[in-house]
Amino acid sequence: MFDDEKLPLRCDRAARQQPRPKSRRRLIAVLLPIAALAFIVVVPWLLPAASSTGSSGGNAFDNADQVSSGPDGRIDLTRLFFDVLSTDRLRSNLEYYTSGVHPAGANQTQATHTLEHFKQHGLDAEIVEYYPWLGRPVSQRVAVFNATTHVVEFEAGLQEDVVPGDPASENPNNLAAFHAYSAGGNVTGRLVYANYGRPSDFGALKRAGVSVKDSIAIVRYGKVLSNVKVHAAELAGARGVLIYSDPADDGYVRGNVYPAGPWRPESSIQRDSVLRQGVYPGDPLTPGYPSTKGAQRIEPSEAASLSSIPSLPLSYRDALPLLSATQGHGVAAGSIDDAWVGGLTSKGIEYWTGPSKLMVNLENRVTYETTPIQNVVGRIKGWEDPGQAVVIGNHRDAWSAGASDPSSGAAVLLELARAFGELSRLGWRPRRTIVLASWDATEHGLVGSTEWVEENVDWLRASAVAYINVGAAVEGDIFTAAASPLLQNLLYAVAKQVPYPHSNETVFDAWLRQSPAMQEADADIESDADIDTEPRPLIDTLGLHGDSVAFALHAGISSADLGFSGSSGARHSNFDSFKRMITFVDSDMRLHLAVAQLWGLLAIRLADDPVLPLCAGCYAKDLKRFIRQFERQMRQRKRHTGDNADGATVSKKLRRLRSAQHQLKLNARVVEHDKRHLRSVYGEDCSMTGRRRHTSCLALRASINDRLANLERHFIDPDGVPGREWYKHALFGPEPERWIGETAHQPFPALAAALESQDSRRLRLSEKGIADIIHEAAWFLRED
Ligand SMILES: *[C@@H]1O[C@H](CO)[C@@H](O)[C@H](O)[C@H]1NC(C)=O
Ligand SMILES: *[C@@H]1O[C@H](CO)[C@@H](O)[C@H](O)[C@H]1NC(C)=O
Ligand SMILES: *[C@@H]1O[C@H](CO)[C@@H](O)[C@H](O)[C@H]1NC(C)=O
Ligand SMILES: *[C@@H]1O[C@H](CO)[C@@H](O)[C@H](O)[C@H]1NC(C)=O
Repeated sequence: MFDDEKLPLRCDRAARQQPRPKSRRRLIAVLLPIAALAFIVVVPWLLPAASSTGSSGGNAFDNADQVSSGPDGRIDLTRLFFDVLSTDRLRSNLEYYTSGVHPAGANQTQATHTLEHFKQHGLDAEIVEYYPWLGRPVSQRVAVFNATTHVVEFEAGLQEDVVPGDPASENPNNLAAFHAYSAGGNVTGRLVYANYGRPSDFGALKRAGVSVKDSIAIVRYGKVLSNVKVHAAELAGARGVLIYSDPADDGYVRGNVYPAGPWRPESSIQRDSVLRQGVYPGDPLTPGYPSTKGAQRIEPSEAASLSSIPSLPLSYRDALPLLSATQGHGVAAGSIDDAWVGGLTSKGIEYWTGPSKLMVNLENRVTYETTPIQNVVGRIKGWEDPGQAVVIGNHRDAWSAGASDPSSGAAVLLELARAFGELSRLGWRPRRTIVLASWDATEHGLVGSTEWVEENVDWLRASAVAYINVGAAVEGDIFTAAASPLLQNLLYAVAKQVPYPHSNETVFDAWLRQSPAMQEADADIESDADIDTEPRPLIDTLGLHGDSVAFALHAGISSADLGFSGSSGARHSNFDSFKRMITFVDSDMRLHLAVAQLWGLLAIRLADDPVLPLCAGCYAKDLKRFIRQFERQMRQRKRHTGDNADGATVSKKLRRLRSAQHQLKLNARVVEHDKRHLRSVYGEDCSMTGRRRHTSCLALRASINDRLANLERHFIDPDGVPGREWYKHALFGPEPERWIGETAHQPFPALAAALESQDSRRLRLSEKGIADIIHEAAWFLRED
């Protein structure tokens, strides 16, 4: 724990209890127009060196003489920060993390190394342990046999090949074929192929007259999280699930396979978690509270986030003989939909649904015990407002060497700690506190971050300005991001400052070129003076995006998740190695560097801009998009299921939401107006000499920042989403489990649950509840 504090940064709690300085906007409004003109002329002369990030004024640099300055004498913090970052360091960090296996709770050496590195660069740092219930593989078997003769026709190898020249592939500590939080069991049944294993895929099987009852389902990875597949199979009556990597998704259909290329080779096994994160993530035995040593635990049988049928991952080499056992049985998968046909056709597989005549035995022996895990948390204390904090985090645990997932991100986090340390040595301190977190046990189900958020939720809601997550920093070279609307404009601004390594563009331009543009989503939304109307790349709505889940959807902290995605052909396998990364993905480490620049600049701006770079108007705009998306979903549900809830009627009822959205939009303009006012009349730095004016400026700025930092919190519904109350964000969250696969994320999850119940009274109440929350948030924006 930090020296004098029990909770991380707990001392800062006192700060928030002090009354917030009252804005004197009305008085200002009267007096200022008079003084404004004179002031605008004078202010620029009074401003101290300001950086190009719009931050670091005044005493931010104590040793400003040591800091290089631009031609105009201004300190360019961005350039300084970029200069400190080193691809050699990133490379050696990556080499370190990938030199051994580091699954959840199993590599103390790496936790200690991370801690020492944080400390060495001047951070207050500590290891925060939790004690979740974690599983380990004991033995696995998948075999095909003749039900009459009991002759075994095929037994799966369940091993990945050794690739000569890649030491990671021959590490004796590499993990077995395994699904975290899978049920143990020994089950036998006929095999049924169910495409991606989405609820809609099982629905299609049912319509085609194929029974899944008492079968072993075989499904492919992709489209939805593995836990959704297992749960959907369980609901359809399957006894067990095999999830294999189809070459159409990330194997030879996509390109050369490792070691000839980056794509997935035939023996590659994709380990995964099957924890039902959509119910609640983290330790299944401590829902909603931290799994500290002495915490009370529920019984595994009571844990709603656990599935009760066993599952295992398979390579496509092992899947081949299984799929050939379904050949000619049931219906041809292509007759359900062409998209059901995978990439093994070149190996003679026609993709039939089964059930097979041969039997399949799936044996999964696992052992569960309370296991200590280590989060490493460090901080740099802010000079002006230490009670406000920006949290950045990445997970450290991996399924094997984990070069891309997560060590690319872990390597960047270490380099950021060093860079911030260097800047501090030169005299820079951020206005607000920066917290760096290296999470453990994310691969099992976001365990480390969830338990930490559950323990610190009160502090976070009082103090956290934002959480920025990077999981796999570099998987390919396509930039992707998901974020709370408040962070959108900042993401765009920062992406414009960072060069894209594979062309002469900025990351922003490359991102715009590579992503479906946002304009489509924005189409027919009237433009708003407060918001840029230039083309913008797509930012996903936050859903189940790694370690941001507990921050965004449980605690109500504005969050973002970013990284370069693309060649996913090694995901969760032994081939996600340093060698593969250096050979095929990022040989010069410049994609890593770009993430360091993006992630670091986001942290610096959030921690150091005098006025928080958050966009309240973007929320109103996105809300409009959510309403439309929900209406579309209602129409789709009606088509799919013939739900009673009449789309037209419901749509009329969404009037309350629309009116709340309108209110939010108007009130967001008040904040924008105050921001402009602050800038034009005082300047964001409030660095005038007149005491009275200085005080008024600080008060206005504090009021603006307070409203921006706390807007997201107002969207938290303490009651949570009906049926999965851990999820507390009223505006977005995971889809209802039975819908999953229809959209990537769910606007108004409580409303979705109400729609699912087909109870129009419930729907009405739910809509009113959400509209009330939005109205309250809107009023908060003009509170003074
Ligand atoms: C833990 O990680 C270190 C550094 O990567 C490595 O040298 C060591 O072998 C790992 N420990 C185990 C038990 O694999
Ligand atoms: C698991 O079930 C199979 C098939 O019924 C059986 O042959 C095997 O012995 C069982 N394994 C154990 C450890 O009981
Ligand atoms: C099982 O073995 C018997 C005896 O050899 C054979 O007649 C039958 O076709 C086999 N069943 C399957 C599904 O291959
Ligand atoms: C980038 O610009 C330089 C100089 O204009 C040019 O030589 C180079 O080919 C460009 N690279 C790419 C990838 O476009």
